Amino acid sequence: MAATELKLMVFAHLGEGWKPCGQLLMTEAGTEVLASNFAYGLNYARRPDALEVDPVSLSLRNRDEVLGKRLYPAKQLPLFGGIRDAAPDAWGRRVIESKLKVPANSLPESQYLLHAGSDRVGALDIRARIQDGPSHGPNVSHDLAHLLEAADRIEAGLPVPAHLEAIFVDGTALGGARPKASVRDEQGVLWLAKFSSRKDRFDVPGVECATLRLAGQAGMHVPALDVRTLGGRKVMLIRRFDRYWLAPDGVLAEADRLFLTQPGGGRVEHRLGFVSGLTLVACDETESRTKAYTDLAQAVREHCHPSVIRADNAELFRRMVYNILVSNDDDHLRNQGFLWDPRLPGWRLSPLYDVLPRASLASERFLHLGVGPQGRLATLDNALAAHARFTLSKAQAARTIAEVWQTVREWRVCFEQFGVADDEIDKIATAFRHLDAVSTPELRKLLP
Ligand SMILES: Nc1ncnc2c1ncn2[C@@H]1O[C@H](COP(=O)(O)OP(=O)(O)O)[C@@H](O)[C@H]1O
Ligand SMILES: [Mg+2]
Repeated sequence: MAATELKLMVFAHLGEGWKPCGQLLMTEAGTEVLASNFAYGLNYARRPDALEVDPVSLSLRNRDEVLGKRLYPAKQLPLFGGIRDAAPDAWGRRVIESKLKVPANSLPESQYLLHAGSDRVGALDIRARIQDGPSHGPNVSHDLAHLLEAADRIEAGLPVPAHLEAIFVDGTALGGARPKASVRDEQGVLWLAKFSSRKDRFDVPGVECATLRLAGQAGMHVPALDVRTLGGRKVMLIRRFDRYWLAPDGVLAEADRLFLTQPGGGRVEHRLGFVSGLTLVACDETESRTKAYTDLAQAVREHCHPSVIRADNAELFRRMVYNILVSNDDDHLRNQGFLWDPRLPGWRLSPLYDVLPRASLASERFLHLGVGPQGRLATLDNALAAHARFTLSKAQAARTIAEVWQTVREWRVCFEQFGVADDEIDKIATAFRHLDAVSTPELRKLLP
């Protein structure tokens, strides 16, 4: 197949609005991306508040090295991670294909990039020409029931009738494989709605929400959450952590909190840059399984702001321990996120998302990412042995394990309080591990 070269414009949302950021050249053959390069616009790269498109390959730390140059993806990858993170993932692709009435995975990557819409996760937008404006996202609150019905039809490969076409605006911009859409509440706050799927064998929205809430109780940073029931089916709502609101002349304070400013009172919506763990570790999707939490910890040391390294490493360790105790083995690098915090300014770990317990009868279990010296083996001994790689003393790591276990051991009571039905709790009960099943007596002696 003949290769074609395409020029795309990348925009970044800075403070008050969209700014042209640079030009992306992509070489494609059919659906395959062969190569790409990027050049920052001079005016953009000179701005003190310029957002990096990619913290690894397109860093703006040494601007003189970047100005006026064509830059290439790290490790000879065909596409920049930061651009891939602005592309739709499996679900968003299905929505775009349904809108354009084409078969699954039949479009070149550039088309998916162009059709994902301006409300995509993060602060980038990809458009065909510099003079193109943003596409309009979910500015009105569409009916969740309609979005759910449309999502069902897309999942089933059925055409979407005209009265359900809001999904083509609200459903395209998002990553992941499960059916979802962006929605605004009455105050104007943007949420990600995750629907149940007809294929689900348990109450996934209710259980995901409860698992995230439990993580919050176990000391992890979790966005605001809600569960709604529509026609007997549940929808999980998770607040979009890549949006915040400021008065036009406002300043953001409270560097330890992640942007919980509310809309209203003339406040303007701002966006935070987002990249996935895949991008921070600079690898391809297919390499995710060969990577470890310690690679993420190392990438945090290299690319995140110095002031957050210690806390983000500690949080990564806590998340790893939690994933072991709840058997969340979908902890791949796209399910780890990083945000650009303009107050630092710099990259930092995003709040937690996409955590789901997996029921299992296996006594030996594995996470997706490597845990410690015994690879992906999901035991607390394996986690503890890696403590130094997370800038934690052995005693600090043991304290974290004890804290997370104290919360997880109460999971049933918490899930009941969070409104998960008893029979649903039973369906996932084997996911939750007892301390004794994932640790040795030697480790337990170290716990405070
Ligand atoms: N609260 C959130 N705010 C902003 N972006 C989010 C949020 N939660 C998830 N995302 C982004 O959306 C993508 C899909 O969400 P995820 O929960 O991982 O769905 P799935 O279960 O389909 O994988 C994530 O990979 C992340 O990029
Ligand atoms: Mg996901």
